[in-house]
Amino acid sequence: MSWCYRRLIRPVLFARDAEQIHGRTLRALGWAGRHELIGDVLESFFGAPDLPVELFGLRFPNPVGSAGGMDKFAEALPAWAALGFGFTELGGVTWHAQSGNPPPRLFRALAEEAIVNRMGFNNPGAEALAETLNRWRACGLWPAHPVGINLGKSKATPLENAAVDYAQSFRVLRSHADFFVVNVSSPNTVGLRQLQDKAALDEILAALQAVAGEKIKRPTFFSKGWQQTSLEIPPPILVKIAPDLAFEALDEILELSARRRIAGLVATNTTITRPETTDPETRRIYAEQGGLSGRPLAKRSTEIIRYIYKQTRGSLPIIGVGGVFSAADAWEKITAGASLVQIYTGLIYEGPGLARAIVNGLLEKMETEGFQTLRDAVGSGLRSQS
Ligand SMILES: Cc1cc2nc3c(=O)[nH]c(=O)nc-3n(C[C@H](O)[C@H](O)[C@H](O)COP(=O)(O)O)c2cc1C
Repeated sequence: MSWCYRRLIRPVLFARDAEQIHGRTLRALGWAGRHELIGDVLESFFGAPDLPVELFGLRFPNPVGSAGGMDKFAEALPAWAALGFGFTELGGVTWHAQSGNPPPRLFRALAEEAIVNRMGFNNPGAEALAETLNRWRACGLWPAHPVGINLGKSKATPLENAAVDYAQSFRVLRSHADFFVVNVSSPNTVGLRQLQDKAALDEILAALQAVAGEKIKRPTFFSKGWQQTSLEIPPPILVKIAPDLAFEALDEILELSARRRIAGLVATNTTITRPETTDPETRRIYAEQGGLSGRPLAKRSTEIIRYIYKQTRGSLPIIGVGGVFSAADAWEKITAGASLVQIYTGLIYEGPGLARAIVNGLLEKMETEGFQTLRDAVGSGLRSQS
């Protein structure tokens, strides 16, 4: 499939505007997901074998997820499981609906298998996303894998009010997802990455934890009639970090994560740095403002994963993301300390068979390396060094 996609389908898709194709693909996947039979056909082509991971009190059928930003409107929710993904991260969503930066805002650097984007959190807003998720549930098409939501800050909200903005989204969405990712690392909202600073991040996490502690009242029918009841276990909250952080800044986030009992880190978002290149077309794309993802990000994001794993002695779960294009890339992140991985750019370059190919490749790797469970492989690259 990968050969067929790369040689036949990709050139046709890549001849068109990147954002337009992304939009059309999501609409097609949304349509496919709404028709059970088509969903079954998709699954028979692309579904992945079981490679279960237990984490955050959740069961992931396999460790390969779709990354934040892929499906900001939850348009194609049922399709991600059919495409072999073991979990989905929806959003980034903000409290206020917003259209994002003016297009063009998504660029392919073909020779480097990379993408530059400055989407700027185009999204329907938290309340509209909650309604969409209600509709997916109501029609019985909720996927049989964990669903997370990526939370961003509204552009209109000043940085000093960021905590309230995140908390409002979280309050509306908390009962709609299995886990949440606090995105303080997108380079495309002015000042957002300053929220990685200890005091600002602490304020956001405190606000989210206050919301998590609020009792959710739900109408439940008892013999005496309807009563407001039910106290849910709060969903796990993770923080997504930038690859451009210095290790000292990362240490502060680790200290804060331990103090605030954060469930884990997502490492990493896109980078504002650009590698050297002599290719004029790549230079032209790299000159665009925005975050770079794909192959050039792989090494740095793995470096960050390794650092976190080492500093925390593996006590803080990591979702590894950045430049995963194959099972070998995923294995590198897992053995560096990631318990789960996510893909975005790899899917665009490698096509819809990627999640399945990665899971199959991971199963083979585990067999040749003699690991019974994937958990045994997590961080094993560091253990063998010491
Ligand atoms: C077009 C585009 C939009 C993205 N939007 C978001 C977003 O809304 N929230 C977020 O946390 N990350 C977002 N990301 C970052 C990805 O989730 C991921 O961290 C990054 O692309 C690195 O992974 P990759 O190399 O597999 O693409 C976006 C990436 C791309 C390419």
